Amino acid sequence: MKNIAVIYWSGTGNTQQMALAVAEGAKGQDISVDVKEVGSATLKDIEDSDAVALGCPSMGCEVLEESEMEPFVQAMEGLDLKGKPVVLFGSFDWGDGQWMADWEERMTSLGVKLADVGLKVHNTPDEAGLELCRELGRKLALA
Ligand SMILES: Cc1cc2nc3c(=O)[nH]c(=O)nc-3n(C[C@H](O)[C@H](O)[C@H](O)COP(=O)(O)O)c2cc1C
Repeated sequence: MKNIAVIYWSGTGNTQQMALAVAEGAKGQDISVDVKEVGSATLKDIEDSDAVALGCPSMGCEVLEESEMEPFVQAMEGLDLKGKPVVLFGSFDWGDGQWMADWEERMTSLGVKLADVGLKVHNTPDEAGLELCRELGRKLALA
C-alpha cells in the first residue's frame, strides 16, 4: 500500500478545491490518500508518506501563507526528503506566479523529486482546472 499525503492551506476555498481534486486523481488500487489542512498536519505526515502534494495560494506579495504554511515548509527543510516524490499546487489572482517558482526552487534544493511542474490555477478552478489537478494527482501516484 502506497501512502500519499495532500497537505494544503486555503483561505477562501480555491486551493482546497484543488487539493480535493489532486487527492481524487491520486487515489487508486493500493494507494491511500490522506488530505489535511496544514494546521492539522505534522512532519510525521510527511515522513510516513511515500509521496506528498503540497498546496498553497500566492499570498502576501508572491509568498506562501505566512502563519501556517511558511512555518510548515521551513520545518520540512529540516527533514531528509531526498528522492521523495512531491507536487506543488495553488491558486493565485493578479500575480505572475513567482510564489510557485520560488517554492519549486526551494523544494528542489531539498532534493525532492518534483513529479511535475507546480500547478497554478487562476482563482476558483473551473472543470478544466480541476482536471489538471486530477492529472497532477495521477502523476504523483505514478512517481
Ligand atoms: C492577503 C492576500 C494576498 C495575496 N497576494 C497575492 C499575490 O501576491 N499574488 C497573487 O497572484 N495573488 C494574491 N492573492 C490572491 C490569492 O492568491 C487568490 O485569491 C487565491 O485564489 C486564494 O486562494 P484560496 O481560496 O485557496 O485562499 C492574495 C490574496 C490575499 C487575501
